[in-house]
Amino acid sequence: MSHNIQVDISYEQDYQIRVGQGLQKEFLSFCADRYTPDKIVVVIDEKVQRLHERKVQVLCEEYFQDVLTLTVPEGEASKSMEQWKRLVDQILEYGVERNTPLLAVGGGVTGDLAGYVASSVLRGIPLLHMPTTLLAMVDSSIGGKTGVNHSTGKNLVGAFNQPEAVFMDLDFLQTLEQTEWITGMAEILKYGAIRDPDIFGKLAELVKQPLEPSEEWQQVISQSAQIKTDIVQEDTLEAGKRAYLNFGHTFGHALEKVAGYGSLAHGEAVFAGMIAATYYSKQLGAPVDDIQFEAFLPLYKRQIQALPTNIQALNTAMRTDKKVKNNTVQLVLLKEWASPYIQPCNDLSKLEKVWQYTLSQFT
Ligand SMILES: NC(=O)c1ccc[n+]([C@@H]2O[C@H](COP(=O)([O-])OP(=O)(O)OC[C@H]3O[C@@H](n4cnc5c(N)ncnc54)[C@H](O)[C@@H]3O)[C@@H](O)[C@H]2O)c1
Repeated sequence: MSHNIQVDISYEQDYQIRVGQGLQKEFLSFCADRYTPDKIVVVIDEKVQRLHERKVQVLCEEYFQDVLTLTVPEGEASKSMEQWKRLVDQILEYGVERNTPLLAVGGGVTGDLAGYVASSVLRGIPLLHMPTTLLAMVDSSIGGKTGVNHSTGKNLVGAFNQPEAVFMDLDFLQTLEQTEWITGMAEILKYGAIRDPDIFGKLAELVKQPLEPSEEWQQVISQSAQIKTDIVQEDTLEAGKRAYLNFGHTFGHALEKVAGYGSLAHGEAVFAGMIAATYYSKQLGAPVDDIQFEAFLPLYKRQIQALPTNIQALNTAMRTDKKVKNNTVQLVLLKEWASPYIQPCNDLSKLEKVWQYTLSQFT
């Protein structure tokens, strides 16, 4: 005879995202409400640490008696098992308790790596995010995906780990390079395509001015963070709607892979991928036009050295995408703006024209 035990464990965990300029007070009062003042671990991008001259450490020292600051070399190569091990070793040697918070400060690389470290140490210590790139603010710090790359592919080892809070302080963006603003913008344009096309016009206005923190940027960042939050709340573990966040990404990942990781930034590849996905949607009859991306194309063209042009290699790369199901590529396309759907595709020869069109936009 079998015995049934029902285990009801809510996976969900509420947390707050604060967006503004100069969030020191909010950060300190959040910590004082929640953590004992003995220790905090700060995992910070080396470049951010250098540019912001120990700002975060000094901030933490206002409340915590002991601050262990661990730096992460800048760049995608740091999202590795080696860096994960180095950080875990240093944190365990330092000695933490179950409620010692870990604060991740940096772009998506630091956030993904540190988030996975936080999920591993003592089977999970509290995670706080302080994203410092546009991409990390509008995308990677929200939703709980953490992890590192593996020799067989990107983001293949990791865990869902929701932070206890996210502090988006736009002051950090003062030192962000122009190319990184443009990279991050691709994910905002994605929200325009899948949720709110008004974003296209707002961003087109913003790129006419110097790229620096402002009230208008704060609004666009908040709106983007809200859209990502809404989608993640509807589908935390990516069983359905969360996949819409991959709009442009299957084409983009193929471009990244064939170009060789590191030679094309994620946002650059996603931008080109969105042109492909929009064009294909239009071919299948949707009333969408890539004219929405026109205002941004010159920015991306200026910074993309070259896109890979081997269409067969691009199609082969699409077959190895993480989201392939039963050998069928799952493309996120549009029925119309703000109305995404999943289109399974196993005859990739159909995509030849799509690739040709997309590549021609960047020559
Ligand atoms: N977890 C998720 O849901 C998710 C979503 C999207 C992307 N990602 C991941 O995010 C990563 C890309 O993130 P990214 O674009 O932020 O890259 P990144 O972390 O490498 O940062 C980009 C560059 O900006 C520098 N930098 C960071 N903050 C700065 C600042 N304030 N001033 C000056 N320079 C600064 C960094 O040193 C780095 O050179 C990828 O690994 C991608 O897979 C994760």
